[in-house]
Amino acid sequence: MNKIEAKLRIEKLKQEIDYHRREYHVFDRETISPAALDSLKNELFSLENEYPEFISADSPTQRVGGEVLDKFKKVEHSRPMISLYDAFSEDDMRDWVKRNENYLPSLLNKKNSYYCELKLDGLAANLRYEKGLFIQGATRGNGKVGEDITLNLRTIESLPLNLHRPEEKELKAIGFSAADISLFYELLDESTIEVRGEIIMLKETFKELNLKYAQAGKPLLANTRNGAAGSLRQLDPKIAAERKLHFFAYDIILGNYERGEILHNRAQADLLVELLGFKRVKNNKIGAGLDEVFSFQKKWEKQKESLPFFIDGVVVKYDDLDLWNQLGVVGKAPRYMMAYKFSAEQATTKLLDVVWQVGRTGVLTPTAILEPVNLGGVTVARSTLHNLDEIRRLDLFLGDTVIVERAGDVIPKIVSVLTNLRIGKEKKITVPTHCPRCDAEISKEEGAVAYRCLNKNCYAISLRKLSHFASKGAMDIEGLGPRIVETLVTEGLLEDAADIFRLRAEDLLGLEGFGDKKIAKLLAAINERRSVALSRFIFALGILHIGEESAQTIALELSSRLKGELIKPSVLLKTALSINFEAWTNLNDIGQVVAQSLVDYFNFKETESLMLKFEQFGLNLLPPLSTSGHLEGKSFVLTGSLLSLTRQEAKDKIKAKGGKTKESVSALLDYLVLGVEPGSKLETARKLGVKILSEEDFLKLVQ
Ligand code: IVH
Repeated sequence: MNKIEAKLRIEKLKQEIDYHRREYHVFDRETISPAALDSLKNELFSLENEYPEFISADSPTQRVGGEVLDKFKKVEHSRPMISLYDAFSEDDMRDWVKRNENYLPSLLNKKNSYYCELKLDGLAANLRYEKGLFIQGATRGNGKVGEDITLNLRTIESLPLNLHRPEEKELKAIGFSAADISLFYELLDESTIEVRGEIIMLKETFKELNLKYAQAGKPLLANTRNGAAGSLRQLDPKIAAERKLHFFAYDIILGNYERGEILHNRAQADLLVELLGFKRVKNNKIGAGLDEVFSFQKKWEKQKESLPFFIDGVVVKYDDLDLWNQLGVVGKAPRYMMAYKFSAEQATTKLLDVVWQVGRTGVLTPTAILEPVNLGGVTVARSTLHNLDEIRRLDLFLGDTVIVERAGDVIPKIVSVLTNLRIGKEKKITVPTHCPRCDAEISKEEGAVAYRCLNKNCYAISLRKLSHFASKGAMDIEGLGPRIVETLVTEGLLEDAADIFRLRAEDLLGLEGFGDKKIAKLLAAINERRSVALSRFIFALGILHIGEESAQTIALELSSRLKGELIKPSVLLKTALSINFEAWTNLNDIGQVVAQSLVDYFNFKETESLMLKFEQFGLNLLPPLSTSGHLEGKSFVLTGSLLSLTRQEAKDKIKAKGGKTKESVSALLDYLVLGVEPGSKLETARKLGVKILSEEDFLKLVQ
């Protein structure tokens, strides 16, 4: 990027960041995820670093954050409510310590402990107690002046309206000297104590409320943070009360005393707030050095889902409070603590190119090539785009700045385009006219979304078909992944799926990467599948439009027309041919397009020879076990993530009771299971009057 481009980009980024900031902070509307916004801020920050001449006072990098709302009384903070600097890696953390050691060389001679705390994702508040009585609570606002939200805060039950008076022995037990104790009592009885902390909504409450709102047709809460912040900024305290918020203390200010004067370390301060009647985060822990800090951060990044609230990182603080005074503040945040964030699940990056892959049914799928970006700890440089409709829906152009997301272990995807950042040089994305693998012409059926290579001999298609056949959801042949399939096809060992069952050790010996052990393992895995569930086999055949669900329906129908424990492929074909178009359409979930595809497939000459080959190489099919359970005939769609089980586990539970899972919501659907952060399915289900189940209801139902 040259200087002129950088200047333009900085201007655009400033405007974009400010737009989302205003929406969020002033109007409580989340128009972009915090992670994606951070990503934009980081880009602006590094551009400004490179070109400091373009830094202006109104840049979002120059602020302490927050905006004071007009409707609440303003409160001047006794001491500024500052912000935190963020670290994203162990290196950032080591740099932080080194910077501090340069600033304060005495740190070098000490073994410093760090108090490691969970970083709650809510809203900061300052609570003021006079003579032990709660008299005023305020938001952070712009750091100097906040909004008076006392009435709303009074609705929070975990916030004491009167400070509890700890006994002397309790204070002694947490390291208070006799002198400290009398100073402390004097403050408590006669003067001011301020407690700072985070107001949050529990995941549980968020789910309950959204379920309630969904059923009542009210707008849903975007996330727990919005749920907490939104209600505290309402003038009607009833709204805050309904939201069942919690206050967790993370800091205490004792009158005009400096840090380190009465309280000596952070761990002690954390115990003190509990004695005063506050909730504190029990998982906080002292770390003897940076290595212990790193393990704490790693542990909670892995286990954050198990907590009842959302966290977005950990906060690492020097435990020795004397150091807090000595280190002081630089810019917008203190030197003595650092937010060590978890890797973001959303980030912004640029779309560099779109390449087209040919799938097993000949469908062309676009893949986005991205400027590499760190997402959830891994570098992402590609993401799938599904089809041209998706590209048009996203309004995606080459050169666009996009938001990419990776939730859990799911494949990264582009969720939206920041069109305001365009400069006019972006290019339209078009579908190739010829197959990128075999150069045959590409066609698109009337009304269909997909573009397809119709060349049956397209090399790319046969590779994909074979890989699909062996894949997990299909025949599940361990060790026969796409790479091995490609090797075997190139070596002339596989022409169709039946050839897999013909493979012998001597065919494989001598091929690159095939040792004795690997060969034995692969052949054993193939052997294991010589008897396989009929539904798996039908799905594995890769018949156009036949997914896992319809394969099950077809398997049930075929086996109902057959007897015996094992079905031979030729018998399967004969039975399938005895079912005509109309009979197929009579089956549940099988429409005209699918029925036609079945009739076509079973009538192909190639299908007959394929089935004979399967039979010759010893393949037998097992009819489905008769499903029975109280969910027989009931259909389910899952949206959002469930807290106590994975999607696959939920699906398995449904199937085990005879129910069915579906991917999209229709009026015929029986249940929508509502997880955290649901997608658009919820809206559709609500409109169609589909019954919505909370996670608890769902678990009861499948028990
Ligand atoms: S310490 C200097 N400790 O994170 C102000 N903050 O990103 C920091 N937060 O505004 C106070 N958990 O609202 C501290 N254990 C924790 C925290 C925590 C969450 C919030 C706090 C702050 C924000 C900065």
